[in-house]
Amino acid sequence: MRAPDRLASVKVLVIGGGAREHALCRALSLDPDVTALHCAPGNAGIAEVAELHQVDALDGAAVARLATELEAGLVVVGPEAPLVAGVADAVRDAGIPCFGPSREAAELEGSKAFAKDVMAAANVPTARSYVCTTPEEIDHALDAFGAPYVVKDDGLAAGKGVVVTGDLSAAREHAIACGRVVIEEFLDGPEVSLFAITDGTTVVPLQPAQDFKRALDGDEGPNTGGMGAYSPLPWADPKLVDEVLESVLQPTVDELRRRGTPFAGLLYAGLAITSRGVRVIEFNARFGDPETQVVLARLRTPLAGVLHAAAVGELAALPPLTWRDDAAVTVVVASHNYPGTPRTGDPIDGLRDVAEQDAPHAYVLHAGTRAEDGRVLSAGGRVLSVTATGSDLAQARKRAYAAVARIGLDGSQHRTDIARTAAEG
Ligand code: AMP
Ligand code: GLY
Repeated sequence: MRAPDRLASVKVLVIGGGAREHALCRALSLDPDVTALHCAPGNAGIAEVAELHQVDALDGAAVARLATELEAGLVVVGPEAPLVAGVADAVRDAGIPCFGPSREAAELEGSKAFAKDVMAAANVPTARSYVCTTPEEIDHALDAFGAPYVVKDDGLAAGKGVVVTGDLSAAREHAIACGRVVIEEFLDGPEVSLFAITDGTTVVPLQPAQDFKRALDGDEGPNTGGMGAYSPLPWADPKLVDEVLESVLQPTVDELRRRGTPFAGLLYAGLAITSRGVRVIEFNARFGDPETQVVLARLRTPLAGVLHAAAVGELAALPPLTWRDDAAVTVVVASHNYPGTPRTGDPIDGLRDVAEQDAPHAYVLHAGTRAEDGRVLSAGGRVLSVTATGSDLAQARKRAYAAVARIGLDGSQHRTDIARTAAEG
């Protein structure tokens, strides 16, 4: 009999085309059970490990048709937009196991107001908040909490819909521009991203990571999708994962099942470790980017069997995950002007140098890139996620920045302080 975490053989289709999907494809390509790996739409880096296909990732029928044609035994949906659009439902309706929550369960990410409602029902600790739609409600909420103000667009905004500011008029302006908006109390303390794989009943937490959301060194500048990440977190309480499983992850999964909309896929808890305990900042319904790059760099268990077990409701039979002792760091190289409208179409140099001189400890995961006439060009805001492992964070960090230094991309930007404080202890 096969071990429950081994599939024997499976063809996998990954939906998406960022560095998170490159990290997923890289891990799947290293899994001996994966006999064919496809990605749609992918990017120039993913093309090296998977066969690329063009498909509208938001069109569930088209994704299901492609998966059927490819005889995929597992579809993995990376980004939130297709999940919120119901792509995982369409794939499952076609009889193909899919890793990713239903449209209804993905509302946990799609609507911050819905997430707050689920947390209230499940008694999950989070910031106190108001959902506002009128200027009067907005003024009342801003006044109730005081500065610093935390103002969040209710809908999907790729990490850019949140404004945290001490400036009342800036807070008010953003709130009014959002339409429906969540205004909440400010949470202080370090942030942690904790991912869990779930089949709707059983919850398997991964290792925690920390993301760097602001554009500039020292946590200055605007919020972005994430400029870098590291794992493990040497400063965190060793009991953190168990505590969050018990107080946050399991109750949330149980509440969604109770509502008749079970959440199966990746539940991402964005947490603040405050002086009064752990609080949920946000939930996402998919792997985080760039945290996935460092979490998967450390996962020893082959990935396909884990994702498949979640997709078919068999997580309870999965043996415990195993992890490498290594630390991992990833540094995002972004285009000129990101997170504003980025400049794209610039050639990227040095990729071969990293492959020849830094592998296997450091490697480049592609985000917004495309190939043209044998060259790799920038094609988005976050362009590359340069990832490295080492015996500790200091070594992983050194290797990641050595690889970043080999990359040439005109006008590009990256933070120089990813994992610095944690590495220094
Ligand atoms: P979100 O999209 O909800 O994760 O918010 C993006 C970023 O804004 C978070 O990673 C935090 O850095 C910050 N943020 C969000 N909510 C709060 C809060 N209640 N208190 C302090 N910072 C927050
Ligand atoms: N790293 C933040 C996110 O994936 O939403």
